[in-house]
Amino acid sequence: MDPIGRVAQAEYPDSVYIVRTPGSEVLLGDLLKVRDRVSGLEYLVRVYNAHHGLTSISERLAAQASRLPELLKALKPEDFYDVYVASPLCTLVPEGPGRRRAAAVKSLPTQFSEVYLPDPEDFRFLAELEGFDLPIGTLRARTTGGEGSLPVSLKGLYLPRHVEVAAITGRGKTNAVLVVLLSMLRAEIGRYSALVFDAHDEYYWGSGAYGKRLQGLRSVELAFPRKVHYYDFLKPGTAKVSPLKLAPEDVENILELSIVQYEACYAFSHFYGDRWIFEVIDLADRWRRAEDPKERGRILLPGVQSSTLMALTRKLRFLLRSRVLYESPRAPERDLISEVLERLDEGSVVIVNTKNISDFEEAMVMNVLARNLLRERSRLSSDDLRRRPITLIVLEEALSVLSQEALKRGVNIFARIVREGRKFNIGLLSVVQRPRRLDPDVASQINTYIVLGTAQKSDRAALTEGAQQDLDVLINEMKRLDVGEALIAFPAEVPFPLPVKIYHFNEYAERALTEQKSSIMNLGEREPKLRDEK
Ligand SMILES: Nc1ncnc2c1ncn2[C@@H]1O[C@H](COP(=O)(O)OP(=O)(O)O)[C@@H](O)[C@H]1O
Ligand SMILES: [Mg+2]
Repeated sequence: MDPIGRVAQAEYPDSVYIVRTPGSEVLLGDLLKVRDRVSGLEYLVRVYNAHHGLTSISERLAAQASRLPELLKALKPEDFYDVYVASPLCTLVPEGPGRRRAAAVKSLPTQFSEVYLPDPEDFRFLAELEGFDLPIGTLRARTTGGEGSLPVSLKGLYLPRHVEVAAITGRGKTNAVLVVLLSMLRAEIGRYSALVFDAHDEYYWGSGAYGKRLQGLRSVELAFPRKVHYYDFLKPGTAKVSPLKLAPEDVENILELSIVQYEACYAFSHFYGDRWIFEVIDLADRWRRAEDPKERGRILLPGVQSSTLMALTRKLRFLLRSRVLYESPRAPERDLISEVLERLDEGSVVIVNTKNISDFEEAMVMNVLARNLLRERSRLSSDDLRRRPITLIVLEEALSVLSQEALKRGVNIFARIVREGRKFNIGLLSVVQRPRRLDPDVASQINTYIVLGTAQKSDRAALTEGAQQDLDVLINEMKRLDVGEALIAFPAEVPFPLPVKIYHFNEYAERALTEQKSSIMNLGEREPKLRDEK
């Protein structure tokens, strides 16, 4: 393979200046390989900038050209060149025969070292990373083997360190999440589960018009029997939340209870048990009917003012009118909470459509399910916990609960999951349109960033702030990302942020279905071996 350029000079930490060989092509965003001409050490670098070389001569020539136009005729294009600026990503250190490890860059490549388009083999270290088991797309890099041949995956074990998918509308956020969900379904049964709060009702039925239609998980449902569940509260027969299972802390945030009201709830639930909501309403009715002040005094619980009781009752009545709740104390024992928790334990993907319900009802169902999941997991012994799937909570419109403004109103369950989820195998995937509005403390706890096209500088800056890998030199590239093109910043094991082309869900689904079919057909002949084969 011929070199496509040569190192002119370099400067720590971010600049390797490369002059292109005449006739070859270098593109912004390219990953290139530098082979040090003295030490033989190989570097991978990423091109992020370019400028003309010989600038002082060209300035003088440009100044003179207006006086002496014939000067330009004497100049040949090959007398000039472009300089590409690249940032070093890693060195490839030999480690036993045929193996190389990606290591941090601690030296500069020698002047005039040759620069090459990398071979697929140069990215072998990616395939050798352990536990990266959730395919998401292919490396978006030109190599001698062409483009699109090197798969990129997320590490499932790291989902509880949280994921952010950031982009403006239409760049492929929903598609990327669908791909992750399908990869989770394809993994070993019971290893993963997901709870999707679907604010636009896209994940099950799909979205978009004919030509550009994005399919939903319904299209793969048959291949994963009883592993995809869809809840729509406007459909008769859909399980709802039993009011008997609500604790004061479940309603505190959504009903915006004052401290006095919260304390009263606490006293009531302590006194009446599960039925406390209905008892409070009943009590308020009796209080209103009783006219004698002595009688009224007997009805109230000690320490609870009648004004508190009345205000609280108004809020609780409003709560009971919500369409995500059973209205009466005769709610079935197996309600939405127990059903969803059970399905998450079995390794399912549960989609909750929150598009057609009110903001209040949405907050209610999200809060109650997330809180009960965390509560249940926190009660398990570490042995039991290990047997549970890793559960990913997907928040479309994550800013409604995790923005700085939202968190000013008090810590909510999702902020708690960001902080504590890891202990309980619960991860949060936040879909975010304006990354700069995400609470910075939340952002700093997120380990994996999937950055698709972003529009504003302030958003790109926020992403480089939050991500644990250095994204500074990628700001220009972030601007130019096309639909489905991503930069993924990973946890520490991946040595640098990867440019990725996310699979299109429709195609990935089709491939997954075909594979599923052929593995079922092979099952009869080679049953015992199937697990180890890949
Ligand atoms: N990786 C991809 N490759 C090709 N097309 C894509 C990809 N991701 C998304 N698209 C297309 O772009 C459109 C918008 O995708 P969507 O995921 O709904 O964007 P968002 O959720 O960011 O608004 C859809 O029509 C979808 O088919
Ligand atoms: Mg979307």
